[in-house]
Amino acid sequence: METVTLSNGVKMPVLGYGVYQVTPEECERCVLDALAAGYRLLDTAQSYFNEEQVGSAIRRSGVPREEIFLTTKVWVEHYGYEAARASVLESMRKLKTDYLDLVLLHQPFADYYGAYRALEELYEEGKIRAIGVSNFYPDRLVDLASFARIRPMVNQVEIHPYHQQQEAKRWMDKYGVQAEAWAPFGEGRGGLFQDPVLTEIGQKHGKTAAQVVLRWHLQRGVVVIPKSVRPERMRENIDVFDFALSAEEMERIGALDQKRSAFFSHQDPNVVEWFVELVDKRRPRGSGAAHTENE
Ligand SMILES: NC(=O)c1ccc[n+]([C@@H]2O[C@H](COP(=O)([O-])OP(=O)(O)OC[C@H]3O[C@@H](n4cnc5c(N)ncnc54)[C@H](OP(=O)(O)O)[C@@H]3O)[C@@H](O)[C@H]2O)c1
Repeated sequence: METVTLSNGVKMPVLGYGVYQVTPEECERCVLDALAAGYRLLDTAQSYFNEEQVGSAIRRSGVPREEIFLTTKVWVEHYGYEAARASVLESMRKLKTDYLDLVLLHQPFADYYGAYRALEELYEEGKIRAIGVSNFYPDRLVDLASFARIRPMVNQVEIHPYHQQQEAKRWMDKYGVQAEAWAPFGEGRGGLFQDPVLTEIGQKHGKTAAQVVLRWHLQRGVVVIPKSVRPERMRENIDVFDFALSAEEMERIGALDQKRSAFFSHQDPNVVEWFVELVDKRRPRGSGAAHTENE
């Protein structure tokens, strides 16, 4: 598997397997299939509720732990220094590992500075090999990259041909932050897998629209973590290293940019309120609400 070198020298596979919306029942089988297909980067999160199954699959696979680049993410209700530190140690227990390759702060809300300090400390203790963020738009990314002690090494954001994040990527490049695409297919929204431009380019190379999309990400220098529960699609999605898109094809895909999220914007206050509700709902009873002033 090809790798990129992060700002701290750690090598990260350019293509991995994401397990968002993979049910706990199916997750172990899916991760075993992904490892058998050759994936060596696994992307989970505390909020996916399947860390235990990812850990079990790694154990059962027989693939040496050091061959796998394992990512998890800290959820907002565990932000603040103490809670974030405890939650990462808990993630390690669930994942049955004594170190993590990459830990990201999942969302740019609440006390992310406190949480980030916990990541810095665990990084310095050698328990995490690289640290970063997710869904940090340029303003928050530049803020954290400038005022934190250790600059984030990765930022995982929504990127696909209909939302290319060209401006955000420029800021990541400027600060030496590796861009990683979540929903590299935009979950297929807007008819991405049937897009005539992507399909036509694919036909020329004997590839599917999905493979063209992944190749386009890789040629832009973006790490991808496509998700599929189907072994044949897992194999299709990793089979993108034997062809190259021309400059003209890259430009044609560049022209598909609609410059807006296929999901939601983290800068929309309604979305922030939705996250606050989510955090409140998941908070253990008796520990108080995340927001009290406006209730
Ligand atoms: N940091 C964040 O906030 C965040 C948010 C979202 C996602 N993520 C990460 O990014 C990963 C990927 O994102 P995602 O799962 O949301 O979306 P995605 O990878 O863009 O798309 C997944 C969807 O595409 C289908 N699919 C996969 N390969 C295909 C192919 N070759 N042809 C046709 N359909 C195909 C899958 O269906 P089947 O499974 O039925 O094949 C699934 O419905 C997640 O698993 C997670 O690790 C992170």
